[in-house]
Amino acid sequence: MAIPYPDDAGAFMAGHLTGQIVTRARVLRHWSDLSIAVLAEDGACLARGVMVPFDSSVEQREPFPDAGWEQAVIWAVDDLLEDRRPDTLCALEIAVHPDAARRGISRTVLEGMQALARERGFDRLVAPLRPPLKANEPWVPMEEYAARRRDDGLPEDPWLRTHVRAGGRLRGIARRSTTVTADLDQWRAWSGLPLAADGLVAVPGALAPLIVNVALDIGCYLEPNVWVDHPLCES
Ligand SMILES: CC(C)(COP(=O)(O)OP(=O)(O)OC[C@H]1O[C@@H](n2cnc3c(N)ncnc32)[C@H](O)[C@@H]1OP(=O)(O)O)[C@@H](O)C(=O)NCCC(=O)NCCS
Repeated sequence: MAIPYPDDAGAFMAGHLTGQIVTRARVLRHWSDLSIAVLAEDGACLARGVMVPFDSSVEQREPFPDAGWEQAVIWAVDDLLEDRRPDTLCALEIAVHPDAARRGISRTVLEGMQALARERGFDRLVAPLRPPLKANEPWVPMEEYAARRRDDGLPEDPWLRTHVRAGGRLRGIARRSTTVTADLDQWRAWSGLPLAADGLVAVPGALAPLIVNVALDIGCYLEPNVWVDHPLCES
């Protein structure tokens, strides 16, 4: 499953603490039956899709929470520890090997995830989507970005479009889906920027500006994602 994370996603993603709890080894140990891979004829992995399950019926778990990706991970681990029966699958990652990009493979992964969710009897499949091209427009609010439509009514962003074409419905913005908080020297190392003044700063690869506070020596990144719901009933 050696698919490199793209360089343009930003080195700062390594500072995402919740990500540390869903290591590849742990996902394979606990939820290997919920990951899918697209293989080339020679067995090389062209793409992967990783999902985790959670129980949406637990009290106070609102659908499509602001804390997006991180919330889904915490619910999944909480349910595993408490031995609850999950009813929902959450897509954590879809990644296509750069050598196999732009051939429509992401749609194949997505359809594979939908089929697997149906097969396993889950009620729904949801995804806190990270549209990678949003990094070109960090100052545009995600609400505005996700609402843009082409003449044919489909989303302007290609990754949102792929999900909508596969039957997904956009359900709102996860305003702080992944968060990275670190001291400013760490952010300087990640970004190559001086970060010498308070305020909002665009960082390469980030979907929204970094919040910088020099007196507190802290940089805080709240990544917005887009919640998508994939209905599983056959139509
Ligand atoms: C996002 C990603 C999964 C897309 O996979 P892919 O198989 O290359 O995409 P597809 O070939 O299925 O293309 C899907 C749509 O995106 C468009 N697209 C893909 N890459 C693009 C790019 N770099 N720039 C512009 N459009 C792009 C395609 O034209 C297509 O749109 P269309 O069908 O309306 O023409 C892939 O680029 C990737 O793995 N990125 C890194 C990981 C990531 O960010 N995953 C998403 C968040 S989890």
